[in-house]
Amino acid sequence: MFHAPIVPRVRKRSRAAEVRVPGREEVKFEDVRLFLVERKMGRSRRSFLTQLARSKGFIVEDLLSDVVTHVVSEDIHASSLWTWLKECDLKNLSNMLVLDISWFTDSMREGRPVPVESTHLIQDALPEGSTPPEGSTPTAEATVSQYACQRRTTTENKNKTFTDAFEVLAESYEMNEIEGPCLAFRRAASVLKSLPWAVQSLGATQDLPCLGESTKAVMKEMLQYGHSFEVEKMLSDERYQTLKLFTSVFGVGPKTADKWYRRGLRSFSDVLADSSIQLNRMQQSGFLHYGDISRAVSKAEARALRNIIDEAVHAITPDAVLALTGGFRRGKEFGHDVDFIVTTPELGKETSLIPRIINRLTKQGILLFTDYQASTFDMSRLPCLRFEAMDHFAKCFLILRLEGSQVEGGLHIAEGDSRGWRAVRVDLVSPPMDRYAFALLGWTGSRQFERDLRRYARMERRMLLDNHALYDKTKKQFLAATTERDIFAHLGLEYIEPWQRNA
Ligand code: UTP
Ligand code: MN
Repeated sequence: MFHAPIVPRVRKRSRAAEVRVPGREEVKFEDVRLFLVERKMGRSRRSFLTQLARSKGFIVEDLLSDVVTHVVSEDIHASSLWTWLKECDLKNLSNMLVLDISWFTDSMREGRPVPVESTHLIQDALPEGSTPPEGSTPTAEATVSQYACQRRTTTENKNKTFTDAFEVLAESYEMNEIEGPCLAFRRAASVLKSLPWAVQSLGATQDLPCLGESTKAVMKEMLQYGHSFEVEKMLSDERYQTLKLFTSVFGVGPKTADKWYRRGLRSFSDVLADSSIQLNRMQQSGFLHYGDISRAVSKAEARALRNIIDEAVHAITPDAVLALTGGFRRGKEFGHDVDFIVTTPELGKETSLIPRIINRLTKQGILLFTDYQASTFDMSRLPCLRFEAMDHFAKCFLILRLEGSQVEGGLHIAEGDSRGWRAVRVDLVSPPMDRYAFALLGWTGSRQFERDLRRYARMERRMLLDNHALYDKTKKQFLAATTERDIFAHLGLEYIEPWQRNA
């Protein structure tokens, strides 16, 4: 806490004393009177900065009083700073600018008081005079890890405007296969998602990892003008919009989307009218069910699908294991599909599971599309040194017909849609039981959480992790795991619950 200062009466000083500060420096900016808050800055740094400012012609007051125009603080705890300021009994506090040290350093660099921007302001978070509970103040603790697997990230995102903006830029870099900046924006977004508080000034982010020059520039703009020009420009970019549109179709990846764009195609009707384009089976279904599968799947719909799959697998094998995974396992309210792991305790028996489920769903008349990929998993070919986007387990990408009557609270469909059913994307993956924990961890996501688990394993532990196994390069051996907790323990990581992996 701050020590209550002795507030001096406004000192009457001669004009000469104002103009000539002890130490010979000439006052250049008479309208600006600085006060540097000692807390966090420390006495010696404060005294150094005071000398520096005076040498550049600034007036720096030693004591806080009503003559001060600019309060500069290095403290990022806005609420405790404001609590202290309010206790100082100032009449003029509402007219003072309470500024982050960045304003001071900018001004020193320029040799003049730079214009105050919103990013410089340390805002009073609780202007009504309410006191926040201890420990709930916005802090950029130095303890935020650069690895998503060492952060707890729920579905509650306090910095959505920033993370959405970063996501747009990351995507545009991805479309152009520019990896570095893409990853930088993804990492920055992920860090902001983990914060239990909303970023209100750039100063508040100074101790956070993974926020580089370009991410900060975007944030600065957004804090200042409410939006980023770079992001706005991208959102209205024709190529960006078209590639987004094309890749929103099931079965259309970035390569195909780009090929169509370069052919001059801009809309679905352009694509469908082009006789030289041969859509594959997946893309045909993608267009056929576009309205439904581009629409988010609700939690209730995911539960209904779970019941359907559960009924199917248990009719096939009573001891089958079924687990909901992907975003819904992380507690998301909506998803683009529903992901399941299905397996059997008996090793090897799982290989026939997916084909038999598909058979059953076909007989039920609810299978609208299936793309089955048999297992190519071979333990003797592990560890895999390069991470592959796809794992080697048997899997299938499905489109199922879901009846409204099976969904508690009804389907998540457009108003006025009276079909009584909708199409939903479902993924099934079927690892052998001894690979179950790795597959579950890998398919639970989020993508960023998985990337950082692998990066952490490689960089910090000399281990290789993927959806199949964990390999210790030092011991030259695979590490066994039957639960996700085992894997976290092997990695020396605190266990992170699925609902905390929304990185
Ligand atoms: P999804 O793409 O389904 O993402 O992959 P999600 O987190 O569930 O989000 P939405 O709501 O559907 O959009 C789920 C996880 O499965 C992994 C992905 O990396 C992701 O973490 N996955 C997916 C694999 O490991 N291998 C695959 O072949 C496919
Ligand atoms: Mn999913």
